[in-house]
Amino acid sequence: MTQRVKVAVFPVAGRGTRFLPVTKASPKEMLPIVDKPLIQYAVDEALSAGADTLIFITGSSKRAIEDHFDSNPELEAVLQAQGKQDLLDTLRGILPSWASCVYIRQPAPLGLGHAVLCAQPVVGDAPFMVHLADDLIDAKVPCLKQMVDVFDQHQVSVLGVQNVPKQDTDRYGIVSLERSVAPRIGKMSHIVEKPKPDKAASTLAVVGRYLLTSAIFEDLSKIGKGAGGEIQLTDGIARLMQRQPVYSYEFEGKRYDCGSKLGYLQATVEYGLKHPNLGPEFAHYLRTLVPKLP
Ligand code: G1P
Repeated sequence: MTQRVKVAVFPVAGRGTRFLPVTKASPKEMLPIVDKPLIQYAVDEALSAGADTLIFITGSSKRAIEDHFDSNPELEAVLQAQGKQDLLDTLRGILPSWASCVYIRQPAPLGLGHAVLCAQPVVGDAPFMVHLADDLIDAKVPCLKQMVDVFDQHQVSVLGVQNVPKQDTDRYGIVSLERSVAPRIGKMSHIVEKPKPDKAASTLAVVGRYLLTSAIFEDLSKIGKGAGGEIQLTDGIARLMQRQPVYSYEFEGKRYDCGSKLGYLQATVEYGLKHPNLGPEFAHYLRTLVPKLP
């Protein structure tokens, strides 16, 4: 039976220590790229890939995410009274009425695999997307939509991957392929969490997009702590691969590592340049600035 992917999971319980002090009381997922928080880019991508149920795995200090996707009648009344219809439309357009949000608290920071396992009671036995909001991907066809297209054709788990510099393998789940299935698609033979560059079998890295069958929950419930003392999604996938094929997919698009300050600044500059109202003026500013750079 062909299964449709309608559910997206957003693990957002991480503490965001790399961005302290800004993340002391605010979720890192609420950091803006120009005028939208990272988590809204994440939700928009999942919705355009066909998701209608959005599951956020949250933790302490993450209330702002719930508020962002909820209505705000007081603010709406103020904007209405001021005749600011465009802003009102922007607010009301944050989430379409047919999408449902579910918030599940991850009781302790036990790792990405544990966060995904927390979604099991809502996901049930459907295939689902996992989106890490730190990884912002700018693409003509949204990355998760590209991956859903692969799933629709093959009905197996799919991981979004890209080649990374050899010296960076210890920041990612690194995959090796058994064989090529089609252009950009490979059948995976191994996946290892954050191998040192001299131990990494390849430079093909998972970058925050997963489309998984519900079989993963059984694997996640059986594995223990892995790299960094955490229950790793990567280890669950390695186990899943022993009984089901898992495909890697080299998506089309540009990825920004918004979990790092440099990646975040790069995304801000490039999205600023592309912004319909702001872009031309910002480009002009950058042109005057660049010749003065040290
Ligand atoms: C997580 C995953 C890792 C993946 C990465 C993508 O690591 O554990 O396998 O490659 O996301 O960004 P984190 O960045 O949370 O340390």
